[in-house]
Amino acid sequence: MVRRILVANEKGGVGKTTTAVNLAHGLALLMKKKVLLVDLDNQAGATISLGFTPGDGTYDLLVKERRLGEVIIAARDNLDLVPSGQRLSLALAFLESLERDVKHGGVAVARGRLKAALQNDDKQYDFVIVDSGPGLNILSLNGLTYGDEVLIPVSLDFLSEVGTEPFVRAIATMRSYDAPVRLRYVVPTLYHTGHQNDERILERLKQNYGALVTVPIRRITDIVAAPENGQTIFEYKRSSKGAKDYEMLTRRVSNG
Ligand SMILES: Nc1ncnc2c1ncn2[C@@H]1O[C@H](COP(=O)(O)OP(=O)(O)O)[C@@H](O)[C@H]1O
Ligand SMILES: [Mg+2]
Repeated sequence: MVRRILVANEKGGVGKTTTAVNLAHGLALLMKKKVLLVDLDNQAGATISLGFTPGDGTYDLLVKERRLGEVIIAARDNLDLVPSGQRLSLALAFLESLERDVKHGGVAVARGRLKAALQNDDKQYDFVIVDSGPGLNILSLNGLTYGDEVLIPVSLDFLSEVGTEPFVRAIATMRSYDAPVRLRYVVPTLYHTGHQNDERILERLKQNYGALVTVPIRRITDIVAAPENGQTIFEYKRSSKGAKDYEMLTRRVSNG
């Protein structure tokens, strides 16, 4: 059965895109799973990181009701991509207008648009990974309505730690509206090994989120360089610490 994982955090710059891309490729390359990566950010970080030009894929799914098969790119072996681009910011206004259109279902229809677009055609995959943009808006709510599991990257600094809490509450609120979504993984990112501050925050994350906390992803320059080359960390430097950390995360997620 397909597992639908939303990579999200209201805060920007915490490693969402990096994690979505490397986890998606890790599952495809290392675990031989069939994976779909959906770029739900108009900045198109996931699309660009895999070496593609931004496009209208996600916009076309959400607004034009195109079918999945019409908008995917075969990005790697076992890995398909729904690309995104600037036009996705227009989807925001469109979805907000749907929200106001109470005669035609209002909020429920507006928030369920991504789910309606994907929920049948995605059954051919083992995993769908959605890279959410920052913010808590109708696009990320579409992600929360579609996803069954949420993976939250948290960079190991105080503001990121604090900034994560509202998003965790939003997940709980969605559940109370009967969406099946639940928080499954809290992934510490941008980890400076041995730095007192990072260790302290990591400890607090473990106290707050217990077994949901995964292996931390270390702060490593190879991880920054890989997307510049349109490569995942597994392609850019398979022997790097970054590839090791993302391999550990891949195995953890693959095991459930
Ligand atoms: N483990 C890491 N080590 C070093 N730099 C990282 C790491 N993870 C992410 N980055 C860098 O941090 C910045 C933000 O990461 P990104 O994945 O784009 O975050 P988000 O999608 O949450 O905005 C990017 O420049 C990225 O290359
Ligand atoms: Mg991003």
